[in-house]
Amino acid sequence: MSTITLKRTGAKMPAVGFGLWKVPRPQCADTVYNALKAGYRLLDGAGDYGNEKEAGEGLARAIKDGIVTREEVFITSKLWNTYHKKERAHELVKYQLKLWGIEYFDLYLIHFPISLEDVDIDAKYPPEWWGLDGKVHPTKVPIRETWEAMEEICELGLAKNIGVSNFQGSLLIDVLRYARIEPQVNQVELHPYLAQKKLVALCKELGIAMTAYSSLGPQSYLELGAHHGVPGLLAHDVVTSIAKATEKSPAQVLLRWTVQQGIAVIPKSNNHDRLLSNLQITSFELTPEQMAQLDELDINLRLNDPQDIHPGLGIFA
Ligand SMILES: NC(=O)c1ccc[n+]([C@@H]2O[C@H](COP(=O)([O-])OP(=O)(O)OC[C@H]3O[C@@H](n4cnc5c(N)ncnc54)[C@H](OP(=O)(O)O)[C@@H]3O)[C@@H](O)[C@H]2O)c1
Repeated sequence: MSTITLKRTGAKMPAVGFGLWKVPRPQCADTVYNALKAGYRLLDGAGDYGNEKEAGEGLARAIKDGIVTREEVFITSKLWNTYHKKERAHELVKYQLKLWGIEYFDLYLIHFPISLEDVDIDAKYPPEWWGLDGKVHPTKVPIRETWEAMEEICELGLAKNIGVSNFQGSLLIDVLRYARIEPQVNQVELHPYLAQKKLVALCKELGIAMTAYSSLGPQSYLELGAHHGVPGLLAHDVVTSIAKATEKSPAQVLLRWTVQQGIAVIPKSNNHDRLLSNLQITSFELTPEQMAQLDELDINLRLNDPQDIHPGLGIFA
């Protein structure tokens, strides 16, 4: 399994992991169990995905059956927007660990640089983007307060590594001005339609590892009706011709393009054959010409933009 070494702790983060967003609760435990059995060693979860308890059940079963040990699996989770206040962040991480049935996360990320008004865990979990009145309520918790909470979470041993997600350059640079513990990872949307070359160069310079999400581009957003009407990447001529030349699937080509840049991927599939094939991307290489052809598809198309939910959430504006 190829890995990416995190700067501060030297932890080895698997270059290919399994994403848990939109894995339905009823099948999540079995999917996680089967993913681990197939060889996945990283699970990418979040409070917002609503399936942490079931993911933890799948993990526990795999440990019980001797497929993996806890130490062999790299578990990522994320702090949701309604828990950015210091005391709330502590409350949430403990609640999430309890749902998973584990003692620590290998990586804990601030999910978005967005703070929203508190919603009690008992009232609604996960709270999603909306308050109990169905409206979005941005609030004013500075990222510095949230990052200090993340550092405390790390020092308490509740997370071995901490990082961020959906952060752009100016915010990353600002966090580094005061961080006692530097962010280890930035997880962002990244695919050939949104190659983020400047952000990739900046993270490299800052020693922050990157994980790409939605590596298959619009494919993930079809089921939400949020794919912006662009032609999918899986059927794009450039991708299919490289797939033909390499005797790989279009999805494998897209995942390989990302990993070959030193960026981790976390594809999600509810289909076992696709789940298996998404893992088989470290034993072939794309030529520099094929990499360049895929680079040329960049149209700065962002599919996951919170500003589509509320005009005040323009973190990418
Ligand atoms: N930090 C963040 O804000 C953030 C945001 C979004 C996602 N994420 C993380 O990133 C993970 C991956 O992103 P994602 O779920 O948006 O997108 P993705 O993994 O790029 O794509 C998933 C979609 O592609 C399909 N698919 C998967 N493998 C395929 C294959 N080999 N061939 C054809 N279709 C395939 C899936 O359908 P089937 O299930 O039917 O195969 C699903 O519709 C998430 O699960 C989550 O863990 C993080």
